[in-house]
Amino acid sequence: MFGRKKQKSTIDKDQLELIENAQRRIKQKKRLYAHFILFLIGSVLLIIVNTVLGIGEYITLYGISWFVYAISIWFLLFLYHVFNVYVTQKFMGKAWEQQQLQKLVGLQELRIQKLKEELRKEEMVKAQSDIYNETTSNTPKLEKHTTAQATIIVAAAENNAIGKNNTLIWHLSKDLKRFKSLTSGHHIIMGRKTFESFPKPLPNRTHVVITRQSNYKVPEGVIVVNSLEKALAISKNDSQPFIIGGGQIYEQAISMVDKIELTRVHETFEADTFFPEIDTSLWEETKNEFHPKDETHNYEFSFITYQRR
Ligand SMILES: NC(=O)c1ccc[n+]([C@@H]2O[C@H](COP(=O)([O-])OP(=O)(O)OC[C@H]3O[C@@H](n4cnc5c(N)ncnc54)[C@H](OP(=O)(O)O)[C@@H]3O)[C@@H](O)[C@H]2O)c1
Repeated sequence: MFGRKKQKSTIDKDQLELIENAQRRIKQKKRLYAHFILFLIGSVLLIIVNTVLGIGEYITLYGISWFVYAISIWFLLFLYHVFNVYVTQKFMGKAWEQQQLQKLVGLQELRIQKLKEELRKEEMVKAQSDIYNETTSNTPKLEKHTTAQATIIVAAAENNAIGKNNTLIWHLSKDLKRFKSLTSGHHIIMGRKTFESFPKPLPNRTHVVITRQSNYKVPEGVIVVNSLEKALAISKNDSQPFIIGGGQIYEQAISMVDKIELTRVHETFEADTFFPEIDTSLWEETKNEFHPKDETHNYEFSFITYQRR
């Protein structure tokens, strides 16, 4: 409470390392400079000793005075010193530079991750406030065709069966692949029971779960709303949200959308959940792609696209 708080160092480890290396570098260069001066003075002295004072005047090798050898050897040592300072002990070295670069890249990646997380949180808050505004304002329900981009996606048998005991009735890998490719990156709107039929949320899609329960718990990132209208309102910035079921939600949504992506399984099944009958006076078939049975597909099926007339 009383007394001064110890000042926290504002220099981080990397900065400190940089400063220490810079100081070491200055010392190395100072020493090299001192060596150079010493070499000059020494060389002059050697010349004076030999030529002026006549010391060792007669000591020669191959006709060359000893001081020439002494100065040459010293000069070589000086060159070696220069080489050491400018090449061998080059500032921080390549490995250090690489390490710094990696650190920098790591920091940037961390920053990007943080930004992404913040963006996702912001989207969630916005979505929640959209729900709030919908609930508290007197604005009328979403009008029938303001949600024209929303598409129903469903796999239904010839008798419109779509599920039994909260699971799908068949396994058609091509259908699952198509579902994945169409819905990836988009909002997928579903009833609480369909959501619970997944072992975990599907990757790369924004889940919007409809329930009347006020305290329904979901994993992080999943949006919960209490009506189909709110689910559609929340997905309004998505160019192509999908309504993925189940029976109760399809029943309410079929009058609100303009497009149905149907996988018609050419077989009749016992079921407890059904897709509503498609009234062809209201819906026009615009695409139909038949797939026969094969080793991995036990039933014939067709991918059919319907557009509202
Ligand atoms: N073949 C396919 O393409 C396909 C696709 C999806 C699902 N399915 C199958 O369909 C079956 C599930 O369908 P389902 O009809 O039983 O359930 P569902 O439609 O998935 O979910 C029903 C739940 O949604 C909530 N709900 C429905 N209308 C609501 C509204 N107006 N306002 C607020 N909440 C509302 C309620 O949750 P609360 O009870 O929590 O209030 C209700 O119990 C499963 O068998 C599944 O495998 C098949």
